[in-house]
Order: sequence, then C-alpha cells, then structure tokens
Amino acid sequence: MIDYKNVVALAPMVRVSDLPLRTLCLKYGADLVWGPEVIDKAIIGSQRTVNADLGTVDFFSKKDPTRLIWRTSPELEKSKLVFQLGSADPGLAVDAATMVAKYVSAIDLNCGCPKHFSTHAGMGAQLLTIPDKLVDILTALVKKVGIPNNVAISVKIRILDTAKKTYDLVKRIAATGVSCITVHCRTTPMRPREPAIYDYLKGIAEICHSHNVSCIVNGDIKSRSELQNYQQTYGVDGIMIAREAQTNPSCFHDTIKLTQLQVCREFIDACIKYDYNTAHCKYNLTNFVPGKDPLYAKFARAKTREELRGYIEDAEAQEKLENDEENHELASSEGSEAATGSPLLDNEPIDTDNLKRMHTVDTIPGKRFKLE
Ligand SMILES: Cc1cc2nc3c(=O)[nH]c(=O)nc-3n(C[C@H](O)[C@H](O)[C@H](O)COP(=O)(O)O)c2cc1C
Repeated sequence: MIDYKNVVALAPMVRVSDLPLRTLCLKYGADLVWGPEVIDKAIIGSQRTVNADLGTVDFFSKKDPTRLIWRTSPELEKSKLVFQLGSADPGLAVDAATMVAKYVSAIDLNCGCPKHFSTHAGMGAQLLTIPDKLVDILTALVKKVGIPNNVAISVKIRILDTAKKTYDLVKRIAATGVSCITVHCRTTPMRPREPAIYDYLKGIAEICHSHNVSCIVNGDIKSRSELQNYQQTYGVDGIMIAREAQTNPSCFHDTIKLTQLQVCREFIDACIKYDYNTAHCKYNLTNFVPGKDPLYAKFARAKTREELRGYIEDAEAQEKLENDEENHELASSEGSEAATGSPLLDNEPIDTDNLKRMHTVDTIPGKRFKLE
C-alpha cells in the first residue's frame, strides 16, 4: 500500500500533469505523481488499449477515437501514480475508478476545483458544501474499489471559511476509510495569487492522524527543501507542488536545478517519445519560458512538434556558441590553464595522476605547467 510519509508530490493539473511531465518529475525526484482530473463519464466512455510501441495503456474516447482521455506507462509509474477523479455520483465514481484501478497506486477524488464547469455539475469544490454526498462517494470508492483492488483512496480538498467548519468536514471525511487527505490551503473563492492560509493545517493534520489518515499540504510550496519545515510546524506527512512544477519539474530535486532550456528539451523529447500532440507541447512549453523570451513567441506560432524541437535545438546551439565564446575570452585573459580545460566534473573525485599528466603537456606553445 502507498506510503505518504515524507512525500513530495506532483499536484494534479489539467493539461499539465500528463505522462510527459510526470516522467520528468519522477526523474527529478517526485515521490508521488497525481495525474490531471479526469471526469467519471469521460473515462467510462473510453476504450482501453495497450500500446505496445509506447509501452503505455491508453484510454481513447469511444465517441471520438482520436481523443486521448488518459495515458499511463505502468512500468514506469504505477507504484507512484495517483489517478484523480472528478465525480458527483458514487455509482459513476466506482465505475470509472474500477477501469483504472489496476494501473495506479491510488485514486483521488477532486474536491477542490472552483471552476464553474465543475461546480455546476456538483463536482470539485461544490462537494465541500454537500458533505453527505461527498461521504457517500468516498465510502463507495473505499469499499468497492479501494479494498478489492488494494489501491488507496484519497481526496483533495480546500479549507472552508472557519476552522470549525473545516475540522467538522475533515472529521467526516477521515471516518470514511480514505488513506490520505490533501489540503489546498485556500478557500474556494480564493484565487491562486492570494497567499495560502495555513492556520487550520495543524488541526487538520491532528484530526487526520487520529483516524490513521495521512495529510499532505498544498499551496505556494516551491521545493523539496520545504518538506521538513511543514512537517515540523504543522505535523503533516508530505507536501504537494503544482505551479512551480509546471514551470520547472526539477523542483523535486535536492540539488539539481534545470535551466529553462534544459526543461524545454527534456519535455519535448518526452512528448515525442509518448506521442503527445502539438497543442499539448505548446501549452506546456509556454509555461516553461517567460512571455518576453523570444522562444515563447516561436513556441506560440509553431505548427508541429518537430518545429518546436527545432527552435529548442537552435537555442541550444546559440547558447553553446555564447558559452564557447565566453570560455575563449576567459582563456585568453587567464592564460593557458583555462584554455587547457578541465575534464573533471564538479563532483567527480580528483585523479591527481591525470591532473599531473594534463598539466605537463604543452597545450599552448611556449607555456608549460607543472603541479606543485
Ligand atoms: C494549470 C492548473 C491545472 C490544475 N488542475 C487541477 C486538477 O485537475 N485537479 C486539482 O485538484 N487541482 C488542480 N489545480 C490546482 C493545483 O493542483 C493546486 O491545488 C494549486 O495550483 C495550488 O498549488 P500551488 O500553489 O503549488 O500552485 C490546477 C492548477 C493549475 C495551475
């Protein structure tokens, strides 16, 4: 069963936390990855196919067989993947979750989406205002999908406008048998630019733990380095990152920070590898670079993935040229030591014999170096 302790997770994000970005987040250290919300009827109305070429399991719409509803690479991500469901009905939720249960480690119910398309259908954050319905859906998921398939059932909520209302709701949710509650620390009307409110978080984590339920915090978290602080201050088990991962998936790593260009390159390669369409590539690539970057405009007008990759390759070549020129200038101003160039990487152990050999070879006529 999934372990939520010490977890740094990728948040569910529609059009963003699909397979290409998930692979990057996992590569750079995400412990768990939530997929984007998929509505119950969309997955129920889809046809499952095993794609041997890509090594994926695909769910394409039956009505429109070109429309990809959901794609996963079980070999790569099953042990860390959470499928997020949008639903307002216990029966539909169970039917939809049953279709994907064997490819994931957990199924999560979205109770945080404030958008009209979700709330007007009784889904997302609307469920926070109808706790009886919410409890019915979660109870059905636990009994009919979670236990029989040995997958965890979890839920992502927002805080309510008072501590008491929030705690009362969390108590009811925690008693349904869910394994984890993720708390996006904003109320439903709050916009993303408004700072998250953590005032109720300690109380929420205590209620969760008294029911043997894990608690993950979400909202304004930018890197793995914040995990310990949230654990110590609020007693949560883990943290979840959305917008920062949307900009740079290496936020999950302790030390590596990919450059914009490196993120673009790895992302386009993953999109091509897993056959994601141009619109998907463009939307995400334009999240990686600021609007004023010349690449942004090129991405926005590109018509194919190959064209997108071409722009990234051009920018890489340009960057290399600039670096080479800079190194050359540095070498000319500092003498031959820089011109010789060190093959040692920053964190590679130093081989002094190799260094001696390098430094006793004439690399610039008339200059000879020896190690002291
Ligand atoms: C592009 C985008 C799509 C999102 N889609 C979902 C979603 O499908 N399900 C969900 O529960 N939250 C969704 N969210 C909300 C995030 O999961 C997260 O709760 C929110 O952005 C706050 O986290 P942050 O401050 O780290 O960005 C989305 C957010 C963004 C920016």
